Amino acid sequence: MSRRVPQPTTPPRERAFLVGVEIHGQEYLLPLEDSLTELALLCDTAGLEVVGQLTQKLAAPHPQTLIGSGKLEELKALVEETLADVVVFDDELSPRHQRELEEAFGSRVRVLDRTAIILDIFAQHARTSEGQLQVKLAQYEYYLPRLTGRRKQLAQQTGGGGGRAGSVGGVGLRGPGETQLEVDRRVIRREIAHLKEELERVRAHRERYRAQRRRSRLPTVSLVGYTNAGKSTLLNRIARAGVYVADQLFATLDPTTRRVKLPGGEIALFTDTVGFIQKLPTTLVAAFRATLEEIAEADLLLHVIDISHPNAMSQAKAVQQTLEEIHAAHIPLLAVLNKIDRLSDPQAARQALQSFPHAIAISAKTGEGLDELMSAIGRLLYQTYIPIRVHLPYHQGQLISLFHELGQVEQVEHHRNGVTLQGRLPGRLVAQFAPWKISSRTPAREEDNAQLVQQIP
Ligand code: GTP
Repeated sequence: MSRRVPQPTTPPRERAFLVGVEIHGQEYLLPLEDSLTELALLCDTAGLEVVGQLTQKLAAPHPQTLIGSGKLEELKALVEETLADVVVFDDELSPRHQRELEEAFGSRVRVLDRTAIILDIFAQHARTSEGQLQVKLAQYEYYLPRLTGRRKQLAQQTGGGGGRAGSVGGVGLRGPGETQLEVDRRVIRREIAHLKEELERVRAHRERYRAQRRRSRLPTVSLVGYTNAGKSTLLNRIARAGVYVADQLFATLDPTTRRVKLPGGEIALFTDTVGFIQKLPTTLVAAFRATLEEIAEADLLLHVIDISHPNAMSQAKAVQQTLEEIHAAHIPLLAVLNKIDRLSDPQAARQALQSFPHAIAISAKTGEGLDELMSAIGRLLYQTYIPIRVHLPYHQGQLISLFHELGQVEQVEHHRNGVTLQGRLPGRLVAQFAPWKISSRTPAREEDNAQLVQQIP
């Protein structure tokens, strides 16, 4: 007996119409058209079908509707014509703009902005409980001042991972004399407080894990870069780690760490991080601060740049700006120009290399340039090491093995009461060895009995 298995039907994608605005005198990282191309990719990743776009250059934003009234009429006609369900603005809309535009478009068409789209993508991609909590908190904080009569839409959007967020606009919560909007605000504020508490708990747990990792004292290399630059692919290649790779924006949201053996035999930890993007919503930077701050603890940053992208330079700048924001700009950084397999003109790669001094060109996909990259990482990691000479009594066995394990030992002298080690140590370990430090010219105690056992070139 044959029975037809019902096939899952994919619901039709919502149709999105994009709007980009350039205000005179404001600085933009990307030209308007390129920023809209990026927004189209974001919408696609969020599951929307882009059906058209409109741009306007303005002397100043219209106080009520951002775009001028004539442009708004043109937009409404285009939205009708293309049967768009959603209008997406490339810049973050103020709560007032949002409200006025929603009124102008009526109940059939939703009004969103870039931030809402990024929040939605983040909600879809967050895997760890901390990531999910961070996104939910960012969503609530973003939507709270934007609460209007459209509570149903809000409840759906903030519902993200389901659960408690869906309680927005629930029935039966209305206190005496309160409007539904006030109830909604109260419910959301309570949710925000609850999420913050939860996050504190998760963070305390992660902090313990982080402290443990710090104790393990392995050097850490963090991969940073614009979204879709190829960080996960590179980490995969380096560590054969099986990290999730997808041609989507923000495929990696939660940091992934892998142990990797460098060409010199030393072990380092490599961490993949969330991709950066221009106009990264401030709510999200704030929500992800703790995760991003892990970057600031790295010994070396690999800035992965998609050199085949027409806006590679602006993307690199956006990354640099975010690094400054999270106080990571002081960390030694190696620029990695990725996707050279996509460049038809090798001359172009050479030219690109000139704009990024000391950069290494690679293809994470084919593996080209990887050996050079790994050697450079080894070299740079150990360049930051600090020369030191210590005399350690034999009962400090743990420190003696730590120096051998994580430092670079250049000379060992065994004495009756201890061992003198000369070499280089990672900066963060120096404090622990400080009590045992001797100057490089000071002979070790009991010099007379010294026996030079080993001289390491
Ligand atoms: P986010 O998670 O958004 O931050 O992205 P990511 O930087 O981790 O990028 P990912 O590794 O997911 O790669 C994005 C896309 O670029 C995928 O389709 C990869 O297959 C592709 N890609 C990565 N490296 C290369 C490369 O060297 N050459 C080519 N041709 N494609 C690459």
